[in-house]
Amino acid sequence: MAILKVARLGHPVLRQQARPVPVDAIRSPEIQRFIDDLIETMREYDGAGLAANQVHALQQIAVIEVQGNPRYPDAPLIPLTVVINPVVTPLGEEMEEGWEGCLSVPDMRGVVPRYTAVRLQCLDREGARVELTAKDFFARVIQHESDHLNGTVYLDRMRNLSTLSHIAEWQRHWLGTREQAD
Ligand code: NI
Repeated sequence: MAILKVARLGHPVLRQQARPVPVDAIRSPEIQRFIDDLIETMREYDGAGLAANQVHALQQIAVIEVQGNPRYPDAPLIPLTVVINPVVTPLGEEMEEGWEGCLSVPDMRGVVPRYTAVRLQCLDREGARVELTAKDFFARVIQHESDHLNGTVYLDRMRNLSTLSHIAEWQRHWLGTREQAD
């Protein structure tokens, strides 16, 4: 396993569309190793999720996990979820604003509106079909990571940039004011 280099805002790979992974390629040693590396990199940098674009690979693969994350100490736990070729569908019109950060936008936070409930259809790391319904924080992280695979970052989703904060100022002035996610 390896810790991969994370692309930061300004690298073109963050603005590109990731390609679907062919189902029969998912169980290949290369893809399996890449998934392991994504997981290890997410954990190394305390991400709540990590998408392939963020490590310079344009494949529709993302990983999500929240288990006692020091960057998100109050976030609900999310078991390790490997998401391949996701299709995310909002369930209803309701949206909620919450804080987000991103390993590709280091040391910043901003308030982002997201659908409060979504359906996620994707493949898992065995290539099996997965369909699940996610709410609130989990739904937020799914939307954030799915956006990455489409070349979108959370800054694009902000209604305006007035809440965009450096982490030190965020901790001083904003911490605890809303739900937060990555
Ligand atoms: Ni991100």
